[in-house]
Formats: sequence, structure tokens, C-alpha cells
Amino acid sequence: MKSKKLMGTLGVVFLFLIIAFFTEKREEKAEEIPVVGVLQYVSHPALDEIYNGIQKGLKESGFVDGENIKIIFQNGQADQSKLTTMSQQLIQKNSEVLIGIATPAAQALANSTSEIPIVLGAITDPVSAGLVETNEKPGGNITGVSDKSPVDSQLDLAVSLLPKAKSVGILYSSAEENSKYQAAEAKEAAQGLGLTVKEYVVPSSNEIAQTVQVMSSEIDFIYIPTDNTIANAMQTVVNEANKMNTPIIPSVDTMVSEGGLATVGINQFDLGVQTGKMAADIISGKSDPATTPIYTFNTGDIIINEVQAKKLGVTIPEAVLKEAKLVGEE
Ligand code: TRP
Repeated sequence: MKSKKLMGTLGVVFLFLIIAFFTEKREEKAEEIPVVGVLQYVSHPALDEIYNGIQKGLKESGFVDGENIKIIFQNGQADQSKLTTMSQQLIQKNSEVLIGIATPAAQALANSTSEIPIVLGAITDPVSAGLVETNEKPGGNITGVSDKSPVDSQLDLAVSLLPKAKSVGILYSSAEENSKYQAAEAKEAAQGLGLTVKEYVVPSSNEIAQTVQVMSSEIDFIYIPTDNTIANAMQTVVNEANKMNTPIIPSVDTMVSEGGLATVGINQFDLGVQTGKMAADIISGKSDPATTPIYTFNTGDIIINEVQAKKLGVTIPEAVLKEAKLVGEE
């Protein structure tokens, strides 16, 4: 009798242990969902769009925030010390993979870890930014997406829309490695088309308004690389340039929508989707950054701001119009 009771008690205890064991396992699992740490350099429409795309790309690969991954998002607001602190925080939160949106954010992450995989979200030139050895074989803990602009096509388009233009001013920030690289490319392409080139380098966003005023009296049109400082202050650039009817050829669709004249641009959302997918492949162990080539988008769409074209009295050649996607402010 007694031993039966004992057996019964033991049975109950055993059952409890089993239940406790499995519950614990499940809790552990809940805590274990991979953390994806995202660091965005600053807010502007293009980078915001890239972040939206990243979430979509992860989702398309089966990773949903709050379900089987946890996304921790930080925005450095163009502040170097914030970028450094935030990078360290993301590492302390045990991120399994880190995503850097824009060059200065990716550089801050890269300075904080050489072990945790980092996926680049639309970096103009990962090599000159010191992030990878080569685009084909990154070599370390970093791979991702490059949004290197089709600079030659952009300047060809500028010349076809502005046939009387003789000079171009390139506007960018001295703080951004990505812009230095692209400005040099643009200079060469513009000179190849017979244009006189002048560079206008701003130390911070405080000097943009005045610089654009000066440019408007010195050159025929403004060219803007994928510069985050300028993209963040695009409204100011457009306001000042419009006062003197100076056309702006930026590098991305979002900046055309904000008042640039035209560009041949890569879709920002698509860049994000590809970044998200590459991060997903790393989480699921399908790829290793060291041997995963940088993904480069090398084609773009012709984007024209119709309202701005009318304002500036620019006639769009029929052949260009046929291929173009038209945008314009309300
Ligand atoms: N390529 C930029 C960098 O390397 C980031 C970027 C992506 C960007 N899209 C943009 C900057 C649009 C300005 C506008 O930092």
C-alpha cells in the first residue's frame, strides 16, 4: 500500500519535473530569438525607405519582427558620438547580425566589432569606406549592398535636359566618405562631357543654404551625390536653388520627388529589400560575410519631376520622356 502511494507521489513529482523542464525550454527559446540590430545614420526619405525595405526583405525570407526575430532599431541623428554608443549598445544586446544604413553608420558598427556579421544597407563604395577588402571577397565580418549610382547616365541625362549648360557644381559634405568617392566620379564624367566642374564642399548642414546661393550665381546646374547631409536638408537646397532657377540633378528618386529636376536612380526600397534578404541568409546560416560578394545594383530608372521641369522651362526630349517615370510635388 505504502509503496504504491510512494510510487504515486514520485510519479506526480516526475510529471512536474517534466512539465517544468519543457516550460523552461520554451522560455529559453523565446529569449533566444535572434536579435537584428539596425543602425541608421540619420533620417531622410531615402534611408527611411531603405529601412522599410529591410523589414520587407527579412519578412520575405521568413523572419518577422516579434515572431522569430527581434529588431532593435537605432538612429544616430548624424551624431558621431551617438553612433559609437549605439553600436556598442546593439552589441551588448547580443545582436546576431547588425545592419548599418549609410556609410557613417556602417563604419561605426565596423569599428565596434570584427566578429558579429554586419550587413551594409546601401553603401556607395564599401572599399573606399574601409569596410571590405574587395567587393567580390569582402574577407571579414562584413557584406551587403552597394548603391553606387549610375553617375555617367545621370550626367548624360543632365546634358540632354539642359543642352545649354556649360558648368556644373557638385554639392556634398566633407564628412562623408561615400560622397568624396562619388564626387570624384562625377567630376570625371562631367569633364568628359565638356562641362566645367566646380566642387562645393560643406563642413555641416549649417552652411548649405549659403553655399547653394553662391553656387546658383556661379554654375549652370547642381549635381548632388548620395550624400546624407544634403539629402537631410534637401528642402533647403531646393528653396535656395529655386530662387535663382538653378536646376538640380540629384542621385536618387526621393530627392527628385523633393524638388530635384531629374535623375537615373536606383529604387531605395529595393535596396532595402536586398539588404534584408542578405541579413536573413546570414541568420539562417546560409551565407558567410567573408565569402559573400557585395550586391551591386547597376541600373536605374529615369525619374523626372514634371512640376520642376515646367518651373525651370526645361523641355523634356520625347525619347527621354518615353522612358521616364514622372514625379512632382502636389
Ligand atoms: N549611399 C549612402 C552612403 O553610403 C547612403 C544612401 C543611400 C543615401 N541612399 C541615399 C544618401 C540617398 C543620400 C540619398 O552613405
